[in-house]
Amino acid sequence: ISLKDYNTFGIAVNAKFFCEVNSIAELKKATTLNGYPNYFVLGGGSNMLLTHDIDDLVLFINIKGIEVVWENEDEVCLEVNAGENWHQLVLWTLERNYGGLENLSLIPGNTGTAPIQNIGAYGVELKDVFVSCKALELATYKIRTFTKEECQFGYRDSYFKNDGKDKFIITSVRLKLTKRNHKLHVGYGAIVSQLQTNNISEPTIKDVSNAVIAIRESKLPDPKKLGNSGSFFKNPIINAQEFHTFTNKYPQAPFYKISDDEYKIPAGWLIEQCGFKGKRFGDAGVHKNQALVLVNYGNASGREIMDLAHNIIKTVFETFQITISPEVNIIK
Ligand code: EPU
Repeated sequence: ISLKDYNTFGIAVNAKFFCEVNSIAELKKATTLNGYPNYFVLGGGSNMLLTHDIDDLVLFINIKGIEVVWENEDEVCLEVNAGENWHQLVLWTLERNYGGLENLSLIPGNTGTAPIQNIGAYGVELKDVFVSCKALELATYKIRTFTKEECQFGYRDSYFKNDGKDKFIITSVRLKLTKRNHKLHVGYGAIVSQLQTNNISEPTIKDVSNAVIAIRESKLPDPKKLGNSGSFFKNPIINAQEFHTFTNKYPQAPFYKISDDEYKIPAGWLIEQCGFKGKRFGDAGVHKNQALVLVNYGNASGREIMDLAHNIIKTVFETFQITISPEVNIIK
């Protein structure tokens, strides 16, 4: 079957074998089928670039369900199954006035993939609300629980992208949210101005979510209309010495200081300076409102997007001597 509708980039590659999984029992059954030593795990397909047909058994993880594990007057702990759409979950929590996910509104993809890259936006990361997750260990067919520490979350990074890569299939995620005294994260410049525009001085979590949705809609293309995978690159982190050289040469460049020896430079700025913003090469392109996002105008192949990405990485390095690397999982 074609995977075009199963990845937000809209890349038309084919899967030889495809299995939709709706429960843990079905997942165990599918992974113990004889003759399939390798699996290709597909969730919301929002953080991958497919560059060829898939010969392994594609497991489409569609396990649904949200459950309250415990709650008191102040907090609630939810267990969310991997196949729940992330943004639908955010809306579900906001309807019940549960706080914590509002800044993470409108992020494409499913809940099961959120821990893999520790999704984050506007000053909040998944790790801030994360308690634990469950995953099927492919070597033993057993469900294992991972605590927050075991997940080793970093900037768009986790155990599941490193030592745990390809060894586990995440089946559910536990989150702890607030029921009152919500801690708002509204320090981000774009949120401040969005709230001001709407004359909101004492925002609720729903107001923050609406502000984030408005900002995202103005910058990031809707994957249903224009294939993309959010930020294609990570923002590079350089050391103090490199930063010193960089900022002397480009005093106008934006940056975020992370620590005394770590400075994050927006890759979108570097890419825009190299002249790529809004450029189109066949059906592959760089988004006009956000240079960090690569887009598929319709029929781009994964290879074409990958070639464009390599061209960008090379040009940014030649111009700034800074190496940017993909955030998206490139399936080579
Ligand atoms: N900039 C440009 N040109 C551009 C884009 C950005 O000059 O085309 C500069 C601007 O100076 C801007 C700065 O870069 O102020 C930062 O841009 P923005 O606020 O849009 O954030 P970002 O660094 O591009 C990151 C995340 C996003 C997340 C936003 C908001 C990464 C790789 N990306 O983007 O995450 O939504 O911050 O928190 O960390 C994603 O991971 O898919 C994603 C969209």
